This record gives sequence, structure tokens and C-alpha cells, in this order.
Amino acid sequence: MPKIIFIDAANRTYPVEAHAGRSVMDAAVDNNVPGIVGECGGSAMCATCHVYVESPASGASKPVRPEEEVMLEFTASERRSNSRLGCQIKLNDTFEGAVFRVPERQV
Ligand code: FES
Repeated sequence: MPKIIFIDAANRTYPVEAHAGRSVMDAAVDNNVPGIVGECGGSAMCATCHVYVESPASGASKPVRPEEEVMLEFTASERRSNSRLGCQIKLNDTFEGAVFRVPERQV
């Protein structure tokens, strides 16, 4: 159960006990972290789970798959070099302490 941290656009922090095998989006939604919508349920079809990976864990550096790459072009807030779809990052114990910044807008 890695502990990960979300930081919203107002710099409020949300430490979360996440479950290995779940996604970053799941961890946010399960713990009522504001600003992560997850409208499509994790199918890489909505971009409302956009996060900025502030403190990369080894698992987060996996290559972005083509369908994620396409959706990252449609984020409501600016896309940055560390932008990812939270639903496409599957958590494991190597994510302990990882930090994900929540964009100002998702829609
Ligand atoms: S939840 Fe829709 S793209 Fe991630």
C-alpha cells in the first residue's frame, strides 16, 4: 500500500494510502481528492484524470501508450512534459512517496 501525495492547484496536499494494482486516478477518486474526475472510468477516453507527475516513481516512467498520447492533446489545463493520465499509471510499492499535482481544470 504505497502512500502517495496529491497537491491541488491551491497547493493543498492530500496524502493517500493507495492500493497496488489500482491506478492513480482510482486512488484519487477512492479518497475524494478534488479535481480528479475520471469521467470515462479509466478507459483513456476523457482526459479528466490529468495529473502532473512531480516526483516520478520508476513505474511512472513507463512509456506513454499511443491512446494516452492522443488524449493528452485534449487536457483542459496545459499539457506539460510531466503530464500523464492518472488512469494509465498503475500503482505498485515503488510509488511510495510519489507526488502528483492536480491541474487547475479538468473540463
Ligand atoms: S479516466 Fe478518462 S482518461 Fe483517465
